[in-house]
Amino acid sequence: MAQQVKAVIARAKGAPVEVTTIVVPDPGPGEAVVRIQACGVCHTDLHYREGGINDEFPFLLGHEAAGIVESVGEGVTEVAPGDFVVLNWRAVCGQCRACKRGRPQYCFATHNAKQKMTLLDGTELSPALGIGAFAEKTLVAAGQCTKVDGAAEPAVAGLLGCGVMAGLGAAINTGNVGRGDTVAVIGCGGVGGAAVMGSRLAGASRIIAVDIDDRKLETAVRLGATHTVNSRTTDPVEAIRELTGGNGADVVVEAVGRPETYRQAFYARDLAGTVVLVGVPTPEMTLELPLLDVFGRGGALKSSWYGDCLPSRDFPMLIDLHLQGRLDLAAFVTETIELGGVEQAFERMHHGDVLRSVVVF
Ligand code: APR
Ligand code: ZN
Ligand code: ZN
Repeated sequence: MAQQVKAVIARAKGAPVEVTTIVVPDPGPGEAVVRIQACGVCHTDLHYREGGINDEFPFLLGHEAAGIVESVGEGVTEVAPGDFVVLNWRAVCGQCRACKRGRPQYCFATHNAKQKMTLLDGTELSPALGIGAFAEKTLVAAGQCTKVDGAAEPAVAGLLGCGVMAGLGAAINTGNVGRGDTVAVIGCGGVGGAAVMGSRLAGASRIIAVDIDDRKLETAVRLGATHTVNSRTTDPVEAIRELTGGNGADVVVEAVGRPETYRQAFYARDLAGTVVLVGVPTPEMTLELPLLDVFGRGGALKSSWYGDCLPSRDFPMLIDLHLQGRLDLAAFVTETIELGGVEQAFERMHHGDVLRSVVVF
């Protein structure tokens, strides 16, 4: 039986989001319906409502979520009703070249639920990142559900579904930060902050946080930064060099997504260091670099998509570390809000006032 639930949608480009009633169908083959317990507010949701991603309005927003599997469709073996799960936006296919080479992080045939959720008048909804979790219940592909320890608070667990995983994974998976490494993180919002935390977890010796906002630098220190640089007033490349014995950092994580910070990341690394690009630029952005610098500097320039995560490997592991008190994921939850508070949360996010606002149900 299809069900009617409350949800937050973006009806038209630029219009404020609204709470409305949507219809969630029963799960089809390979699908699951999840009762959402918490969902974080991410920049990507705002990006959808501003028309920055595509024009398939109306969107059902929300994609950093955790909840309880309510029902599953035919053939689902990954999860069962009652499981506490974190949702991911990349259910891998297992069949493509990347999957078969053992690199499912680069699967190019990820999938979502085939059936559509709708408005009461039958209008089909486009779920943000194939999830749509600012909703009491949502329909996803079963492969988008990863079971984790039910002792974790939903508001905390859900954050692994996007930004926090992107940042942790940028340091741990893509940057491969090791014990004793020096790390610089440029941009310390939710994603960069998580990269700081991941670097600490990995045993980095110096973790240099760079931001233009002193509030973010204070937070970064709480998350594990050992040094801070305000790049509004101080040249970050020089400062990072000075703090790393003149060498540059072993790993530099760029978590802003702008040409000037890409440039800083490029020059702030040790000659044999790794630059990890996790900040997402816009299509019109370009960066000019002397080729001799590109050629002459060794190391690696890597982009990090979703923190190169494998949800089935990373989500349960990170939740375990959190429950053992070894990874303070709760530090990212600035506030919990109700479903009706998403629009105001966008406003606070826009002003840089929060790491994460999380809708709890
Ligand atoms: N130099 C340094 N820091 C900057 C600069 C700059 N020129 N411009 C902005 N920042 C800082 C902001 O002050 C903020 O702390 O970058 C941070 C960005 O953080 P958020 O706005 O919270 O964004 P976040 O969710 O962390 O995402 C950052 O990573 O995954 C991507 O799409 C995401 O491109 C985005 C980036
Ligand atoms: Zn694949
Ligand atoms: Zn997100």
